[in-house]
Amino acid sequence: MRRRILAALSGAALAIGMAACSGEGAGGGGDTSGDKPADLTIGVSMPTQTSERWIADGNSVKEKLTAKGYKVDLQYAGDDIPTQSQQVDQMITQGADVLIIAAIDGTALSGQLQAAADAKIPVISYDRLIRDSPNVNFYVSFDNYKVGVAQANALLVGLGLQNKDGSKGTAAGPFNVELFAGSLDDNNAHFFFSGAMDTLKPFVDAGALRVKSGQTKIEQVAILRWQQETAQKRMEDLLTSSYNDGSVVNGVLSPFDGLSRGIITALQNAGYGAGAKKMPVVTGQDAEVASVKLINDGVQSSTIFKDTRLLAEQAVIAAEAYLQDKEPAANDTKTYENGVKVVPSFLLPVQTVYKDDITSVLIDSGYLTAEEVASGQAK
Ligand code: BGC
Repeated sequence: MRRRILAALSGAALAIGMAACSGEGAGGGGDTSGDKPADLTIGVSMPTQTSERWIADGNSVKEKLTAKGYKVDLQYAGDDIPTQSQQVDQMITQGADVLIIAAIDGTALSGQLQAAADAKIPVISYDRLIRDSPNVNFYVSFDNYKVGVAQANALLVGLGLQNKDGSKGTAAGPFNVELFAGSLDDNNAHFFFSGAMDTLKPFVDAGALRVKSGQTKIEQVAILRWQQETAQKRMEDLLTSSYNDGSVVNGVLSPFDGLSRGIITALQNAGYGAGAKKMPVVTGQDAEVASVKLINDGVQSSTIFKDTRLLAEQAVIAAEAYLQDKEPAANDTKTYENGVKVVPSFLLPVQTVYKDDITSVLIDSGYLTAEEVASGQAK
């Protein structure tokens, strides 16, 4: 740790000079390979605690690192960009040896990342790619394009246009659907939406799906900071503007369980899910416990499960590699171009969860307990 503080104090020029002399690449970092875990600190910067998934991520990363004897500085930024910048700045000045960062705004941390590079601190971008900076050493995430494909497929399955095995379903449509996307400053939101739209487009072109509002561009359907309330408001506005002629919504593409809950609330307030107005097919992501309960109760149709325990494990493997002065193993070196360079990545697979899958995928794996699913609340 001391070596890093010295490097930080000595400034960018010296750091660059040292890297050049030692022949290390951007990912090298100071030599910590001989240090004991108890002398090493990993800074973990997470975006928010308003969504369960990030709490699970933070806890998993911390537990796994602490179990190996490392010190962990875990901070949540309350979805506030200046707070996250400040927290990362502080981790650097306090001598973190590796940083693991899930950014709020993927483009807002260039200054911090430059300071990290100057102090020879490797940076692991966690789940959300940090953009516009050469100083991102590694990326751990899921296959985000495939998340979007899976969400669109789940919408098609829910509507009966397609079967789970991908074969043609018995329904023909046309169905009215509305689309939602995540926060435009989150690189993932673009991957999710393009995966989904590539999958839905043939059905829109064939007339089986109609986006009645006409809002099909990501800029029109994005929800800033992935806020549940904003999604609820947009759904309310859509119902007023496009469905006040007696027509009904049949499906909603939602990229995140939090948004799905806002969308469902708007629909319920407009009488959907009671009497003749069937609850539309609503998709999701993250297997958040409140949404898994809604799926179990037949209200939400599906979610995409991303096992945060496995993601945390990959982040820890990458962090340890850097601490031992090695490069972590990537399984993708093409997809994640961050505006400056392609960031070597380790991508994990995802699973679609319908009501029938809750037990086998979520409960049997110990991700949630049956009690949590029944109550809709994390213990
Ligand atoms: C994550 C999703 C999550 C969303 C909102 C994205 O970057 O990949 O899993 O639903 O942020 O928190």
